[in-house]
Amino acid sequence: MVHMNQGQGETSNALQNRLKPLIEAAIVELCSSTNTSFPEKMLIADLGCSSGPNALALVSVAIEAIHSHCLQLQQPPPEVCVLLNDLPDNDFNTVVKSLVMLRQSNKPAVVTVGITPGSFYERLFTSGSMHLFCSSNSLNWLSKVPEDLTRNWIPAYDIDEHARSERLPMVLEAYAQQFRKDFTLFLELRAKELVPGGRMVVSLAGRRSDDRASKFSHVWEVFAQILSVMASEGVIDKAKYDSFYVPVYGPSDEELREIIQAEGSFSITEMRVHDFT
Ligand SMILES: C[S@@+](CC[C@H](N)C(=O)[O-])C[C@H]1O[C@@H](n2cnc3c(N)ncnc32)[C@H](O)[C@@H]1O
Repeated sequence: MVHMNQGQGETSNALQNRLKPLIEAAIVELCSSTNTSFPEKMLIADLGCSSGPNALALVSVAIEAIHSHCLQLQQPPPEVCVLLNDLPDNDFNTVVKSLVMLRQSNKPAVVTVGITPGSFYERLFTSGSMHLFCSSNSLNWLSKVPEDLTRNWIPAYDIDEHARSERLPMVLEAYAQQFRKDFTLFLELRAKELVPGGRMVVSLAGRRSDDRASKFSHVWEVFAQILSVMASEGVIDKAKYDSFYVPVYGPSDEELREIIQAEGSFSITEMRVHDFT
């Protein structure tokens, strides 16, 4: 079981800001007057919310968007239920306090709030109940380390440079396959939980399809390099180092597109690729 410390950094904020226009567009589509009827209630959830100031950032954008869209259309706002998900070890104490403050704040639309602890690689919500899922920076986390590597004692980042470059394609493929399995499952599960016409807005760290660099380079190669030097100098135990895998993967935009199309439950309205700045 893994859980992250609070994300308060500039990077988290920047990533979440980039999702703002996409969340706003999703809300407009959900509330669109071309739909048969204006929704009377709306359930929205952030998957992998973490804790700290960013935990409510995405759902706050959604609430604000609902509020201003309804004002514009002169419609009464729907009753909104806000649900926050993360792994059970997340610090939900602080999250709950912020959720209560959100409900008490001047947001007439928010009627109920709640937390949904559990893995987003499992069912989390009842069928056909959710209108909008948001997730930022969380789907890089795999459900587990690729078993092909652990079963065959293949280190993710071999200390020996020759062995490392020989095994690299196998290691990358094992991670890519695990991501494909996990992300496909994630899509299947969320599709069951969404209302017809429901929306999902997600962001994750990855690489451009035309970037031929190692699939790990963005994610954890830097600290794997440092650990491998420490292991080769005997500072940390080599056997421990060899069995250390980080269940994180950064897909390319093309990989994501392929997986989404192959799974088939969702169509892509918009996909944006940003460089880390
Ligand atoms: C980098 S943080 C992102 C936090 C926040 N969304 C943000 O953008 O600042 C990743 C979060 O995903 C959560 N996470 C990882 N795997 C998960 C899973 N299988 N189910 C639910 N949450 C998960 C972690 O516990 C962590 O809180």
